[in-house]
Amino acid sequence: MADHVVMNQREALVEIILNRPDKRNAINWPMMEALHAAIIAAEKLAGARVVLLRGEGSGFSAGIDLLGFQDAAGEFGDGWRDNLFPLTQAYQAVVSQFERCSLPVIALLHGYCLGLGMELALACDFRLAAEGTKLGLPETRLGIIPDVGGTTRLAHLVGPARAKELILTGRSIEAQQAEQWGMITACVPADDLPARGAALAAEIILAAPLAVSYAKRVINDLSDTTRGLQLEAWAQSQLIRTEDFTTGAQAMLMKQPADWKGR
Ligand code: COA
Repeated sequence: MADHVVMNQREALVEIILNRPDKRNAINWPMMEALHAAIIAAEKLAGARVVLLRGEGSGFSAGIDLLGFQDAAGEFGDGWRDNLFPLTQAYQAVVSQFERCSLPVIALLHGYCLGLGMELALACDFRLAAEGTKLGLPETRLGIIPDVGGTTRLAHLVGPARAKELILTGRSIEAQQAEQWGMITACVPADDLPARGAALAAEIILAAPLAVSYAKRVINDLSDTTRGLQLEAWAQSQLIRTEDFTTGAQAMLMKQPADWKGR
């Protein structure tokens, strides 16, 4: 089996690549573990100054591996739905590690950036997106909420009104609108995406590494993300046991509308 996460270093740049293109970089638990290992390793690499995160294939990521929900009992035990808190916290810890990394992290987005993929991108310091990229948190269309920091970080980034517009509808928006909302750093022509990422990294590298790292930490700590993560985990522990979630996940995989029961 190919590595689902690939890491390489080019001088001061460390690239972390989501590498499951046949499944549209849908993120399962082993991939989360590999992402965690990669971001921890990145800041220990000699000479590393900036991390670039991107996806292989037609898009950045289609979000959480929906089939993984079917295997969750095997992976996490039969009672996983009744004891979701620690599981959510484990996912949150991986994504938060990108925020906590002492190096700045630039996410390069193309194609689609959905659900857990979007939550990962929101934990990065910069998001550059190719024109036409679709960005969204469609979890409510599955009967759940973005519980891996997406609800909290999107609200911090674009304010509660726009966060509600995106999350309560489950709608995706294109990169150009996301740029207007301040959800991404810039929307760029697709062919320019790698060069624009490298140029931003080069500019950061001109600044002093310790100052960059402390500035990142101060700005991040201005927002109370911890409370938001707890609230997300609480809400999800209610929703994961509903009939609506079971039918919602099935409907999403079948590309059919869900028949919501409200229970
Ligand atoms: N979880 C598991 N598998 C997924 C997946 C996901 N989130 N997204 C895509 N895949 C798989 C498909 O099942 C398919 O697998 P198969 O080839 O074994 O049948 C493969 O990836 C290709 O998917 P497909 O839908 O044919 O690709 P596409 O290029 O036409 O469309 C997307 C790409 C991302 C627009 C579309 O796959 C999609 O909408 N996925 C679901 C996104 C989502 O709702 N994520 C959950 C957020 S909470």
